[in-house]
Amino acid sequence: MKQPNWIAPSILSANFAKLGEEVDSALAAGADIVHFDVMDNHYVPNLTIGPLVCEALRNHGVSAPIDVHLMVKPVDRLIEDFAKAGATYITFHPEASEHVDRSLTLIRSLGCKAGLVFNPATPLHYLDYVMDKLDMVLLMSVNPGFPGQAFIPSVIPKIQEVRTQIDVSGYPIRLQVDGGVKLDNIHSIAEAGADTFVMGSAFFKTPNYHDTVTQFRSLLG
Ligand code: DX5
Ligand code: ZN
Repeated sequence: MKQPNWIAPSILSANFAKLGEEVDSALAAGADIVHFDVMDNHYVPNLTIGPLVCEALRNHGVSAPIDVHLMVKPVDRLIEDFAKAGATYITFHPEASEHVDRSLTLIRSLGCKAGLVFNPATPLHYLDYVMDKLDMVLLMSVNPGFPGQAFIPSVIPKIQEVRTQIDVSGYPIRLQVDGGVKLDNIHSIAEAGADTFVMGSAFFKTPNYHDTVTQFRSLLG
């Protein structure tokens, strides 16, 4: 069953010089969850932030769910570090883990919620046999590594396919979409079956976050 819609601003596009304030403003504006992009200059060609920053946000007083999107290889060591740092969700790319079941089990054993992330060209067969270990499926609608890229439309039928698989499974798994989500496409992304919407540039590059949340929510119905 589809979960309630969640707006997930990606702090990759926030002003890192005042990250705590940026996250506070996003949440005060009505965002539901903080999307936290971790890049290692190995799995993806970019380098961002690690567990210390997640812990700093918790110490700053952020109590909303923090959704850690690991774009790293290998993944298991960082799972433990992010669990200690206060992550709520931890998602990883299955082809970056030698043992997908083990990584998912590790995330839940540390008290976090677990998810798998699929690049635009990654096949969905990684979902086979692990639906019972998932709290989220994240479909990338750009190739991971950078904010501000264009949405890849072939992800729409992929969203529909995963929606069906989740519904058939009966598990309360969130279906998240990440990359190029904007005012002009969020409606079709939601119609295809997504319930969790990551937005980097379309959120943090706007002047008034409250207005931005209101505009996005009005398109979600
Ligand atoms: C890309 C990241 C995204 C990124 C999205 O690899 O996973 O979360 O911040 O940024 P926009 O919304 O600008 O495409
Ligand atoms: Zn992301």
